Amino acid sequence: MSPLFSLKGRVALVTGASRGLGFAMARALADAGALVVLNGRDAATLAARCAEIEAAGGRAAIAAFDVCDRPTADAAIDDIVARYGKLDILINNAAFGVPRDFFDISDDDWRLSMNVALDSCFRLSRKAAVGMAAQGWGRIVMISSVNARIGRGTNTPYITAKAGLEGLARGMASELATQGVTVNCIAPGYMATDINTVFRAQPGKYDWISNRTPMKRWGSPEDLMGAAVFLASEASAFMTGQVMVIDGGMTIAI
Ligand SMILES: NC(=O)c1ccc[n+]([C@@H]2O[C@H](COP(=O)([O-])OP(=O)(O)OC[C@H]3O[C@@H](n4cnc5c(N)ncnc54)[C@H](OP(=O)(O)O)[C@@H]3O)[C@@H](O)[C@H]2O)c1
Repeated sequence: MSPLFSLKGRVALVTGASRGLGFAMARALADAGALVVLNGRDAATLAARCAEIEAAGGRAAIAAFDVCDRPTADAAIDDIVARYGKLDILINNAAFGVPRDFFDISDDDWRLSMNVALDSCFRLSRKAAVGMAAQGWGRIVMISSVNARIGRGTNTPYITAKAGLEGLARGMASELATQGVTVNCIAPGYMATDINTVFRAQPGKYDWISNRTPMKRWGSPEDLMGAAVFLASEASAFMTGQVMVIDGGMTIAI
């Protein structure tokens, strides 16, 4: 592997890595040589995922916590630094949508969406960036969505949170640019995972998305692996505050 893409000696935390896109990106970072700490809310699931990475020759550990729980999340980052000496890479991936018709969105729906998909990313990034800035090297990757730029009904809180996440990345990136810390986003298109099982099962939705995508298919978690390694590595050193859209062409064609 080119040293540009090697993550040997790096320590990474991937939130929401118990399945779906987060687990695929965690596998990719481990394949590239990083020690990857897998986060999710269920320790038993994470332990099984950790064993899969180790069976494939990678190094992994687990940190079970709810990203919305600030004291526990802060303590988890402190624990990673205490155990492994540092935290070089943070992928803010954990999130879910709260699908509602616009007039049915309650204040609680709104706050929950913002908390899991935006506020938690701010808090984790703020905490992780302290050590990154002190050591003069860090990579923060936010998992946004094509829905940050193109809307879809019944999804307004999620769309708002993802648009905010891209703003958060630009603000942090501007401020941390001289300290060796880059902050970028990946905006996936429609990838078949648990998050959209209900949506995909609705009549016509699966084909609608496939046909709306120039590559004529849904994405898979593996489609994000290369981008995650690139943004976590030295290869992306002069790139910050940007959004990599990985959507089979969905947002460049009508
Ligand atoms: N799939 C897509 O089409 C798509 C498109 C654009 C963007 N995205 C974004 O990609 C990211 C991953 O989505 P996915 O499709 O992989 O979804 P997924 O398969 O539903 O996985 C979600 C992950 O987040 C974790 N999680 C959820 N709430 C959490 C919390 N409060 N604290 C800690 N972990 C939590 C889940 O773990 P546990 O349930 O085990 O805790 C799971 O590992 C999300 O940010 C999503 O918005 C997805």
